[in-house]
Amino acid sequence: MGIAESGIIPGMEKCVPVTLVIFGATGDLAGSKLIPALYSNFAKGRLPECPTVAGFGRRDWHDAEFRTRLRERSAEILAGAFDPVLWDAFERRIFYVKGELDSAGSFSQLNDFLRGKESAPAGRLYYLATGPEFFPVIVEGLGRAGMAAGGPWRRLVVEKPFGSDLRSARKLNRILHAHFHEHQIFRMDHYLGKETAQNILFFRFANTIFEPVWNRRFVDNIQITVAETVDVGRRAPYYDKSGVLRDMFQNHLLQLLALVAMEPPASFSADAVRDEKCRVFRRIRPVRIADTVRGQYDGFCATDGVAPRSQTPTYAALKLRIGNPRWKGVPFYLRSGKAMAQKRSEIVVEFRRPPFQVFEMEGCRECSPNILSIGIQPDEGIHLTLDAKVPDSSRDIRAVDMSFHYRDSFAGALPDAYERLLLDALNGDASLFTRSDSIELCWRLIDPVIAGWERADAPPLLGYPRGGWGPDAADELPARDGRAWRCVCRRGMEDNPPHS
Ligand code: BG6
Repeated sequence: MGIAESGIIPGMEKCVPVTLVIFGATGDLAGSKLIPALYSNFAKGRLPECPTVAGFGRRDWHDAEFRTRLRERSAEILAGAFDPVLWDAFERRIFYVKGELDSAGSFSQLNDFLRGKESAPAGRLYYLATGPEFFPVIVEGLGRAGMAAGGPWRRLVVEKPFGSDLRSARKLNRILHAHFHEHQIFRMDHYLGKETAQNILFFRFANTIFEPVWNRRFVDNIQITVAETVDVGRRAPYYDKSGVLRDMFQNHLLQLLALVAMEPPASFSADAVRDEKCRVFRRIRPVRIADTVRGQYDGFCATDGVAPRSQTPTYAALKLRIGNPRWKGVPFYLRSGKAMAQKRSEIVVEFRRPPFQVFEMEGCRECSPNILSIGIQPDEGIHLTLDAKVPDSSRDIRAVDMSFHYRDSFAGALPDAYERLLLDALNGDASLFTRSDSIELCWRLIDPVIAGWERADAPPLLGYPRGGWGPDAADELPARDGRAWRCVCRRGMEDNPPHS
């Protein structure tokens, strides 16, 4: 069989045929993310031919129905980037396998099916795109059927949420490790696949001018905002058990924080990068409950699937401190919420004001701090505010903006995070995936906050209107330290231009 038909992926250490097995193939993740991402890689010529894809599910579907559904969904998601002719070539190696997750017979049938499709010993990527409650049974099924080992390689991608606390995450890690080695496991955090998040380390370490000032001597505080306009929608039953800390902080926000705060890794190898991240997580001080704010958007409790008196927070703001020489004394303010005014993820580094206020002494207004804003999405790019003399004035000062936008500097739309992550998993590069120790360290930080919020003396759960910026008390968190949220999505932005 020629390369074009065998699904061989170039650039891999050893070129071998590849099989992607998707558990939960009839679900939304497979249709809206995985298959469009695989197709995009194929369309960009990164895969000479689609790997064999076996979708495993309980529904009574067959190949043709599975392919039609995937085609329709991919066409919808990819819009102009979808080419029906190319799709015809792509879909030929997509198959549907019906089975039960808790049946040993289904796993051995799946194995036989895969062997029948694999022309030569193939590398296999098992993708857990089901609800988390099925992760253990799938991993055990794979292990018992002898499918976790053999062939050129076997890898496992585990979607989030990875556990719901430290205990359950440890238990899940134990189950995974009973059948797979750590180097075979790829734990997903799609924020790490976003171009703008990947760029943080390049920005910091590929430029000369930022690293020397990236520390407590020059940085006053750092802020991370992940604001969403969507509410919990159809995910209400999951979300009501989870809440914003488990859903967003334990993973996405803490991973962004690690990218901003970590020391330079010795190399770009997966373990070197992940070692440095873990070092930062270990140095984050336990969060003081007084340094937290929690909120719930109005109407959350009336959502189908939410308990009528639910205390689940849909918004949180936390102040964190990192006890290491680089960051001692620099507060990190993190916030995220649903049903907010804008979808916006942004990291802000606020620098200290100049030590000697020469212009103030001359009667000018106080200099503004330099603000570096890294737009994760949607306004992907970087802004730096600088003070400048207002032309035709004697000594007026105004903050001005220097900016870089991906859309202006690079052609083409930014790829979806899943494109990069799927390709990396197929290629065996785990740098953008989380390791067991880092997951556990993050739960170690988040668990006590969740427990603290259940105590009688916890700060109250504050309501906030949909379409706003969260509870007012969230502004008090930095205000108590004489600071303010600096990012574009702060309250009253319309009246106060950002960063002024
Ligand atoms: C997911 C959360 O991990 O990330 C969702 O479970 C959230 O609740 C989503 O909406 C946000 O991702 P993005 O890429 O839209 O910012």
